[in-house]
Amino acid sequence: MEILTTAAALQAHTENWRRAGQHIGLVPTMGALHEGHLQLVRAAATECDVVVASIFVNPTQFNNPDDFRLYPRLPEADAALLAPAGCTALFLPSVSEMYPRPTVVQFGFGALERVMEGEHRPGHFNGVATVVSKLFHLSRPHRAYFGQKDFQQVAIVRQLISDLTFDLELVAFPTVREPDGLAMSSRNRRLSPEARALAPRLYQSLQAAAELLRGGHTAPAAVQAAVREQLAAVPGLELEYITVADAHTLQPLTDTYAGCPAVVCLAAHLGGVRLIDNVVVEGK
Ligand code: PAF
Repeated sequence: MEILTTAAALQAHTENWRRAGQHIGLVPTMGALHEGHLQLVRAAATECDVVVASIFVNPTQFNNPDDFRLYPRLPEADAALLAPAGCTALFLPSVSEMYPRPTVVQFGFGALERVMEGEHRPGHFNGVATVVSKLFHLSRPHRAYFGQKDFQQVAIVRQLISDLTFDLELVAFPTVREPDGLAMSSRNRRLSPEARALAPRLYQSLQAAAELLRGGHTAPAAVQAAVREQLAAVPGLELEYITVADAHTLQPLTDTYAGCPAVVCLAAHLGGVRLIDNVVVEGK
């Protein structure tokens, strides 16, 4: 596996791969890799000729400076995991390489970003769209792989690809969970043992919410209230939002649930660590 640190080096490789007719898979990450990331890399290795994984803790998508500062950075350990998973090239740029000068272009995603992560992390999806666009331009992938734990991010990237006619296929993979249900996340490393023991309560409350919705007798607003009540009993847990939304438009459902595909998303702070998770409720 090669490690590339400059945009020019990645572009040169991309050019050669494309000329040789090779299919390129891209797995964009911020590092501190876990099994969820590795599944994406393995899938890309099965479906493509070359796999580029990027590791870049993107400053423009963090609205909280502490969150950016404390984000786990483990490039050597990550590199050791990527090669056996089938990664061809690791793109590991510096901040100045990705942002030689501040960007001016702003992305807006309308209603799609006025909810959940977009509402609670102003500027977040502008930063995501900026860096993902740069990565698409540099690596010109045929397929790009994302995890559905970031459900809204997948919807935003899908819109980005459609609006800017990026010639690639987005592949979204289901959330990978620890045996106790906690969604795998790079941020889990920052949980204290006490917080880690409580963290599966998030997924338990989401599963209960999904069951209520599937039952068809509980309005989304009441489902949200039930989750709020369950999580209020977890010591040290601060719920930032819980939203039952249409799985396609991401617009909140409140009064009635008519059986459309829905998603229940939440964000919570546990021992100073911000976690997100979601469950999808298939339509009837
Ligand atoms: O999901 C992530 O890790 C990041 O948001 C991404 C897609 C790598 C962009 O920085």
